[in-house]
Amino acid sequence: MTVPHPHHTRVAVIGAGPAGLLLARLLQRSGIGCVVLESRDRAYVEQRQRAGILEQGTVEALREAGAAERLDREGIPHDGIELRFDGRRHRVDFPSLTGGRRVWVYAQTEMVKDLVALRAADGEPLLFEAPVHAVEGADTDTCVVRYTHGGRERTLTCDYVVGCDGYHGVARRAVPEGASRTFERAYPYSWLGVTADAPPAYDELVYAHSDRGFALASMRSPSVSRLYLQVPVGDDPSAWSDQRIWDELDARLGADGSWRLHRGPITAKAVLPMRSSVTEPMRHGRLFLAGDAAHIVPPTGAKGLNLAAADVTVLARAFAHLETTGSTERLDAYSDTCLRRVWRAEHFSYFMTTVLHTDPGQSGFDGRLQLSQLDRIAGSPFAAADLAENYTGPPIG
Ligand code: APR
Ligand code: PHB
Repeated sequence: MTVPHPHHTRVAVIGAGPAGLLLARLLQRSGIGCVVLESRDRAYVEQRQRAGILEQGTVEALREAGAAERLDREGIPHDGIELRFDGRRHRVDFPSLTGGRRVWVYAQTEMVKDLVALRAADGEPLLFEAPVHAVEGADTDTCVVRYTHGGRERTLTCDYVVGCDGYHGVARRAVPEGASRTFERAYPYSWLGVTADAPPAYDELVYAHSDRGFALASMRSPSVSRLYLQVPVGDDPSAWSDQRIWDELDARLGADGSWRLHRGPITAKAVLPMRSSVTEPMRHGRLFLAGDAAHIVPPTGAKGLNLAAADVTVLARAFAHLETTGSTERLDAYSDTCLRRVWRAEHFSYFMTTVLHTDPGQSGFDGRLQLSQLDRIAGSPFAAADLAENYTGPPIG
């Protein structure tokens, strides 16, 4: 089937991850034309194992986009998480501490599949294997996006470009030197992420601090577990046999020996780096940045996917405002509006990461501070509410 190659569009979207796909869906719902250009193929985009927790605001955005039918059927609402530390277990309840807010377990892969299927069903332009290699004219009245598709160099002119192309994408690099500033932090450890055909032995996510290092027990469904272990930077996943993974998870999650995971074959494992990064502003002329193209968080706070959804919800509303009023005021406020939420999530992700992980170079004093902070969350409704409010996230916009 020949794929049409539009020559012009209102909004060019680079990247078909959660940010690009949700933005395209929201723009379509406002009658705003866009073309999505994705460098990888559909299978890669739909199978890329990433996040699994949706904030209430993200669920509401997907419902607003008419893209939550399967989420509402298969997503698992969660009303809390459990913290384990110093031989103790403490549950943090969300609704009672946030006025009713909660989160949903629904894998990023499933959200992406839903959005791709909707776009295909509507016959809206989404080109796979179409890497963008240049964005030109962002500070003029007409932008030009240069990409390759079907072995040919192609150009797409547009009124606006949105870089939803992730941390390693091309859009951020199209911003002239000196026109933006990036703030970064690297962490002295990584995560070994594993997926297993094993029913979770827990109803809600378990975050564990231990002298052996951090561990997290999450899930993808009633029969699939998603689990994480803190490992040294650069650790080799092939050095981790199934047996070693399960034994280490039990040692960290069930430190008091009274609790064991349900085991099963591990179907995926990878070492994930941990870093924080924010690029300001999230705009240059007619080029906007959204999602991982603008900011990265360590995964501990489950914020990456939700920040991407918040960015594009704000941006789509701003484009809709422009279409209905002719005013660019909300587009002009996009970066500041999003950065306030981004920095709150950056701090929360930093907090969850540094309180729960055992830094190889940390002192005994640092370790006691971690336990004191965790003890405060367990003992103070104010500290617990702060965690619950940040974990479930504020309404978008
Ligand atoms: N041209 C076209 N597409 C590109 C280019 C390019 N030059 N560079 C990258 N891409 C595509 C990638 O192949 C990917 O599909 O852009 C998409 C970016 O998607 P994500 O990296 O998932 O970023 P985002 O949509 O912002 O979602 C953030 O996804 O990666 C997770 O942890 C992250 O949960 C967070 C969420
Ligand atoms: C996940 O399920 O992948 C997940 C959940 C919570 C986190 C990080 C990752 O904090």
